[in-house]
Amino acid sequence: MSRRLRVAVLAGGRSSEHEISLASARSVLESLDPERYDVVAVAIGRDGRWELGSGGGSVAETLPVPAENAPAALGAVDVVLPILHGPYGEDGTVQGLLELADVAYIGAGVAGSALCMDKDRFERVLRESGIPVARSVTLRSGDEPENPFGYPVFVKPARLGSSVGITKAHNDTELRIGVELAFVHDEKILVEEFLDGTEVEVGVLGNRHPIASLPGEIVPLGHEWYDYSSKYDEGGMKLVVPPDGLSEETIARVQEVAVDAFRLTECEGMARVDCFVVDGDVVVNELNTIPGFTSTSVYAKLFEASGVPYEALLQRLIELAVERHERRSKLRY
Ligand SMILES: Nc1ncnc2c1ncn2[C@@H]1O[C@H](COP(=O)(O)OP(=O)(O)OP(=O)(O)O)[C@@H](O)[C@H]1O
Ligand SMILES: [Mg+2]
Repeated sequence: MSRRLRVAVLAGGRSSEHEISLASARSVLESLDPERYDVVAVAIGRDGRWELGSGGGSVAETLPVPAENAPAALGAVDVVLPILHGPYGEDGTVQGLLELADVAYIGAGVAGSALCMDKDRFERVLRESGIPVARSVTLRSGDEPENPFGYPVFVKPARLGSSVGITKAHNDTELRIGVELAFVHDEKILVEEFLDGTEVEVGVLGNRHPIASLPGEIVPLGHEWYDYSSKYDEGGMKLVVPPDGLSEETIARVQEVAVDAFRLTECEGMARVDCFVVDGDVVVNELNTIPGFTSTSVYAKLFEASGVPYEALLQRLIELAVERHERRSKLRY
C-alpha cells in the first residue's frame, strides 16, 4: 500500500475573512480521510503569525526569512491546502511562498490569484477577450466620487471579499459614504453599474481542461442584496440549483463563460465564478480562486448537485495540485 500523503491545511490569515477561513478549514479537516492523508493544521493569526500543529506548538513569522519553521514545515509535506480567503491568502502572496518552498498546493498559482483578487484588473482581462462584465470606473485614493451610470450603483474595494466594504448606493450621499468606506479597505475601488438580472454562481474544477458545475441562483432572503449577513447568517439566502428561470441554453452558456473566464485568468484547481444573467446575456461579476469552502458553502453545494460530493471534491483538488506540481517541475528555466 502506498504511504499516506502528507497534507498541510493553512487556516485563518490576516484578512477580514479570517473567521470564514477558519470555518472552511474546519470542514476540510473533518473531511480529509485519515486512511489516505496525514494532516497537519497551520493556524495563521490575524497578526500574520503562523502556528504549526494543533495546541500551541511552535510559532513562526509569515516571511520565509528569518522564520525557522514555516518553510521547512511546508517543504516537508506533499500538498498544501491554503484555505485562506482575501488579501494575504487568496491574492498570490501565500502562493508565492509555496512556490518558493517548491511544494504542491491546491488552487490558482501566483498570477491567477493576484489577477482574480483585483476586480479592476480582472474585469479588464475579460473585457479584452469579449466576455461581458459590468461597466465601472476605477478610483484611487484622493479621487473624487464619480458615477456616470445613474443610480443605484455598487461601490466596492478592488481587492476584498465577502461583501466587506461594499455599498449599494441609491443617491449621491450614499455614493460619497460608500466611496469613503471602500477606501478604508483598499486604495483602489470600483464604482460599478447595477446589474439588474438573475444572480448565479458556478463552480469550476480542473487544471487546463476544467469542468463546470451546475449553476445555482443566489436568492437573498430579507436582504436587498447578497451582503455579508445575507451570506453568512442562518437563513440569509437560498441557493437554487439549477436556477428555475433559466433555459438549458443559458445554463450551458453560464458554464461555458465560467470555464472561459477561468482559463483566461490562468486559474487552476478550483474557482467559483459569480455572474448575472441580464436579458439572457451572461455577465461575469467576479471570480473567487478560493471560494468559501465549508461542506455547506455554495461551491460545495454546486458540485454536490453536479455529482461530486465534498470528500471527492477535496480528493480531486489534491490530485490536481500534485499534477500541476509534477508538470511544472519538468520545466527548465
Ligand atoms: N454590479 C453589480 N450589480 C448588482 N449587484 C452587484 C453588483 N456588484 C456586486 N453586487 C452584489 O454584491 C454582492 C457582492 O459583490 P462581489 O461578489 O463583487 O463582492 P465580494 O465581496 O468579492 O464577494 P465574495 O464573497 O463572493 O468574494 C454580489 O454577490 C451581488 O449580490
Ligand atoms: Mg462574489
